Amino acid sequence: MDIFIGDERACDERGAQEFAKQISSKPASVLGLATGSTPEGIYERLVDKYKAGQVSFASVKTFNLDEYLGIPINHVSSYSYYMYDKLFNHVDIQKNNINLLCPCPNSIDKECMDFEAAIKACGGIDLQILGLGPNGHIGFNEPGTPFESTTHLVELTESTIEANSRFFESPDQMPRQAITMGIKTIMQAQRIILMAKGQKKAHIIKEALTGPVTTRVPASVLQLHPNVLVILDRQAAAML
Ligand code: GLP
Repeated sequence: MDIFIGDERACDERGAQEFAKQISSKPASVLGLATGSTPEGIYERLVDKYKAGQVSFASVKTFNLDEYLGIPINHVSSYSYYMYDKLFNHVDIQKNNINLLCPCPNSIDKECMDFEAAIKACGGIDLQILGLGPNGHIGFNEPGTPFESTTHLVELTESTIEANSRFFESPDQMPRQAITMGIKTIMQAQRIILMAKGQKKAHIIKEALTGPVTTRVPASVLQLHPNVLVILDRQAAAML
């Protein structure tokens, strides 16, 4: 596991460089993308790199980690909206190469199975970016999720509802359920970047990277992956 520590700007630049490098070595890369505040700076820089002619998404395929359930797809707090707003609307990606979980599927089981099948059909994810929940979740894999899990329905924990309700107009609008790639799905990516920022993540970063590998801290499973880069700002790295 490699660890990069820097100020916020350096972290965003390092993350964006990793994506640009991946795409230039394989233009038809399959990228696993995340939402939340943590990767926003990476997407901003990737848009800059695209505008400067340094990277093209023309052949790239993407899969997003997760999505809330029970809101319309165009809801401003949906992860679908986030991805178009922060990245897809500003680069040359082809719409049919974008894979997002639906927040209002006809069948949740089918949505999960189709998503897994689509990842396999593309040959698997080359590079996956992950943020970190305050309880150690990756995607929406909450503590206790089996390491063998594939894409599935999740009942969100109080900790996650509390952490993410800031993205909704009022806390009661925050969905209580979500769909997420499973831990096995994430672990099958060729390369993973785990990114965390801020003092609020310092404790859980220490547990995830240096504590026991346990389903109680979902991100601790990354200790078992052979190709992980951890990108931390100084506050998130403070307890290492
Ligand atoms: C959500 C997402 C996670 C993300 C986490 C951290 O719960 N499902 O994938 O990593 O938020 O969010 P933030 O980056 O805003 O701290």
